[in-house]
Amino acid sequence: MNGKQAAGQKAIDEIKEGMTIGLGTGSTVYYFLEALAEKVADGFELTGVATSQKTIDLAKEWRIPMLPLNEVTKIDVTIDGADEVDSQLSGIKGGGGALLYEKLVAKASDRRIWIVDSSKKVEQLGTFPLPVEVVPFGWKHVEAYFTGKGYHPKLRCSADGQPYVTDAHHNILDLHLQSITNAEELANELDHLTGVVEHGLFIGMTEKVIIGYPDGHTETL
Ligand code: 5RP
Repeated sequence: MNGKQAAGQKAIDEIKEGMTIGLGTGSTVYYFLEALAEKVADGFELTGVATSQKTIDLAKEWRIPMLPLNEVTKIDVTIDGADEVDSQLSGIKGGGGALLYEKLVAKASDRRIWIVDSSKKVEQLGTFPLPVEVVPFGWKHVEAYFTGKGYHPKLRCSADGQPYVTDAHHNILDLHLQSITNAEELANELDHLTGVVEHGLFIGMTEKVIIGYPDGHTETL
């Protein structure tokens, strides 16, 4: 057992038969999907809506029935991970590169629950580099803007050294901010920048956070 597993397994308590469930992305969500797959194997009826190709692939492998976001009118609950979360339940997401689809699915959801291990709990957001999804055309100009603002952008690259490409065919600039003193102000700035598709600041976008600890116990914020 580890903290991610503890949180992922605990989230299964939130699931009821017949629900449409947003399925997040990442190594913590993996444990939730594993538990969900057991329910499906036992005959439990539900529908999943994925936030990434990685999650679609896992869900297919585990025979979890899936629909694309465009084919559902609403999602009852979304279970997703996070890279950092503060005491106000604001967070940074997108470490796995799925921030755009994660935000779209979150916005279509009645309830949003994050599952994290205890290392993700922070006093102030910003130690984790903030992912900003940008269109490939002219991204260097957005990078130059961020550099001028002192945001320390770094183009995310894959293991082969090539620029990382999101499921929506964009690139990611990770902002190495160290600390974010006013998350709302920064989110508002990023929301209005041409060339920026989405950013990883999720403010007021979760109602509950399940934190898992290495000994297997969980805490809910
Ligand atoms: C992907 C995400 C993930 O939820 C986040 O990176 C946490 O991942 P993990 O559970 O693997 O630590 O936002 O874009």
